[in-house]
Amino acid sequence: MYRVTSEIFTENHNLYVKYKNDNVISTFVFKYPSYMIKPECPDNILIHDNDDDIDIDRQQEGQLLIEHHISTELQNVGLQVWRGALLLADYILSNPDSFKDKIILELGAGVGLTSIVASFLAKEVICTDIDVNGILQLIHRNFKRNLKYVRCKTDVKELDFLNLEWHVSYAKRINQATVILAADVIYDETITEGFVQTLVKLLNSRTLKTVYIALEKRYVFTTVNMDTTAPMYEEFLACIERKQLNWHIEYVKLDFPRYFSYNRVKQMILMKIENGLSK
Ligand SMILES: C[S@@+](CC[C@H](N)C(=O)[O-])C[C@H]1O[C@@H](n2cnc3c(N)ncnc32)[C@H](O)[C@@H]1O
Repeated sequence: MYRVTSEIFTENHNLYVKYKNDNVISTFVFKYPSYMIKPECPDNILIHDNDDDIDIDRQQEGQLLIEHHISTELQNVGLQVWRGALLLADYILSNPDSFKDKIILELGAGVGLTSIVASFLAKEVICTDIDVNGILQLIHRNFKRNLKYVRCKTDVKELDFLNLEWHVSYAKRINQATVILAADVIYDETITEGFVQTLVKLLNSRTLKTVYIALEKRYVFTTVNMDTTAPMYEEFLACIERKQLNWHIEYVKLDFPRYFSYNRVKQMILMKIENGLSK
C-alpha cells in the first residue's frame, strides 16, 4: 500500500521517541511570543498581555508534546503533522488579538496541534476531524499532554465534510464559532468539494465569521496541459467560483514571525475568508 510522510519529519527539526505501535511522541519546540512570558514565574508560565509587542530578542522556548505517526497510508494522513498546522499556529501566535476570547472551530485538525495553540488564547476551541483510526482519541491525549497551554474550554468532536446532516444541538454549538481554522485539508477532490460545502454551511450566517486556511500547493506535471499545476488548490478555487459565493477572500502575507521550526516553503498559502458581511 502506498504510504506518505510529512515533510516536517524529513526536515529533521523535531525530536521524537517511540510510543506505542506506530505512534511516536515528538517534541515541537516553539519560541514564546513576548506576551506569553511572565519573567518572574519560574517555569515561564504565561500571562496574556496583548498590548505587549512581540520581542524576538528576549524569547524563551516552550514545548508541545504531540503523539502522531511518521508515515501513513493516504487515508490516515491526519495521524501525521503537516506544515500547514505549524504555519497556522505561527499565525495565531503572531496575531493574538484575532483569536483571543473567540469561539474557534478547527476542521480536519489531525493530531490537534493547531487547536492546542489556539486554546491558549481562545474562549473555547472545538477541535474536529473524522472519527477514524482513533484520531479523536489521539487528539484528546494530545490536549492532555499539553494542559499547560490549554487555557479555555475544549471539545473534540467528529465533523465529516462528507456528512453535513448535523444534529440540531450540534449545529447550534458549532455555529457559535466565529473563527474557523483548517490546515492542509485540500489534497483530494472529494474531500475538497466536501470542505467547501462545509464552509458554505458554516458561513451561511448573519454573524461575521472568519476562516483561516493554510495549505501547501502541491505541484504535479500533467500531460493534459503539458504544464505543472497544483490541481487540488485550483479545484478549491474553481469550486468556490462555481458556487458564486459572496465571500471576501484575502491572501495573508507570510511575513509574520516563525515560532515553530519548519521550512516555510514558497508553495505555502494562508487564506483568510470572511462571509461577506459588513463589520
Ligand atoms: C493532511 S491532514 C492535515 C491534518 C492537520 N490539519 C495538519 O495540518 O497537520 C488532512 C486532514 O483532513 C482530515 N479529513 C480527511 N477527510 C475528511 C473529511 N471527510 N472530513 C473532515 N476531515 C477530513 C484528515 O483526517 C486529516 O486530519
